Amino acid sequence: MNVPLLDLVGQYVAIKDEVLPALQAVIESQQFIMGPSIAQLEAKLAELSHARYGVGCASGTDALLLPLKALNLKPGDEVITTPFTFFATAGAIHNAGGTPVFVDIDPRSYNVDPVAVEAAITPRTRAIVPVHLYGQMVELERLLAIAQRRGIAIIEDACQAVGARRSIDGVWRMAGELGWVTGYSFFPSKNLGAWGDGGMMVTSDEAAAERLRRLRLHGGAKQYHHDEVGTNSRLDTLQAAVLLAKLPHLAGWSAKRREHAAYYTRAFAGLDAVHPPVIAAGNEHIFHQYTVRVDRRDALQAHLKAQGIGSAVYYPIPLHRQPCFAHLGYAAGSMPHSERAATEVLSLPIYPELTRTQLDYVVDAIRGFYR
Ligand SMILES: Cc1ncc(COP(=O)(O)O)c(C=O)c1O
Repeated sequence: MNVPLLDLVGQYVAIKDEVLPALQAVIESQQFIMGPSIAQLEAKLAELSHARYGVGCASGTDALLLPLKALNLKPGDEVITTPFTFFATAGAIHNAGGTPVFVDIDPRSYNVDPVAVEAAITPRTRAIVPVHLYGQMVELERLLAIAQRRGIAIIEDACQAVGARRSIDGVWRMAGELGWVTGYSFFPSKNLGAWGDGGMMVTSDEAAAERLRRLRLHGGAKQYHHDEVGTNSRLDTLQAAVLLAKLPHLAGWSAKRREHAAYYTRAFAGLDAVHPPVIAAGNEHIFHQYTVRVDRRDALQAHLKAQGIGSAVYYPIPLHRQPCFAHLGYAAGSMPHSERAATEVLSLPIYPELTRTQLDYVVDAIRGFYR
């Protein structure tokens, strides 16, 4: 049997009759740049996020870069984030002119530890970029309490967490609802994936939405008038059409992912070498990834590969140890939870189309390895 880490063809076959006509409509209109699908998708993503405005852009990377640029960072301005994330989170901070300040994670959720965030704040701190890693939200209410009283902006990296939510004081709060600006990625492997690159920012701050709309269009609200220097970071209309066709399926896909995750977690009970993901109190996880912490991780991964099972390590090198950030001076051992997670985590197949037989095959292969 073959169980790839991700099977986008399975999803394509299931929904192509809905997506292909939507694409064809764009092609027949020949409105490829800023066509009507963009505004429709922006409204829908804002609604899903309980935010007022959506601003499409070219990628999840730009969905972080543009709000960071909107902060007008000066040399030496600091932005606190996690080292246990995809590179883009910290790359965007650097490219916006800020200095990434890394703080360690909570070893259970893999999300940034609010206590460590507070300890890292200095007079130069301008923003915090928490990442809702693997699809579960960070303890945002604690970060908000830290940030708001100091006038520090929170930019949520929700690239892995579209539709994730967290109960705060008894109220469901969506990813994208409480941060100043939130970035989403529509990279094809994401829970809501386009057929190419794409991203979106959501915010409830009208002035921020206007600024972000300008920044994605060379800094001009009006054609050929440039109030500031922006860039070309438009969302492709064809991609917006794909995403609009996929969006009605998202809640069902997330439910399926949760079902698969619960099945795995039950199946791994009693296996001391395998630690299933911990869902933090109050969170509804969307399981962009189902990531276990295991003994002898690399040997297990090789064993799974030999049995035709895909898996991946997100992420093998924490960002504070990347050569490009060596100048920041973080020593080995300075972020022990992130560094340990990097040697122990393994993400397993979790896409909605997985069958019970495939799930059992993965479970049996893992149980077999530790027998
Ligand atoms: C946590 C995180 N941040 C940022 C990004 C960047 O998104 P994109 O690849 O769409 O630029 C990704 C995904 O790739 C991600 O997983």
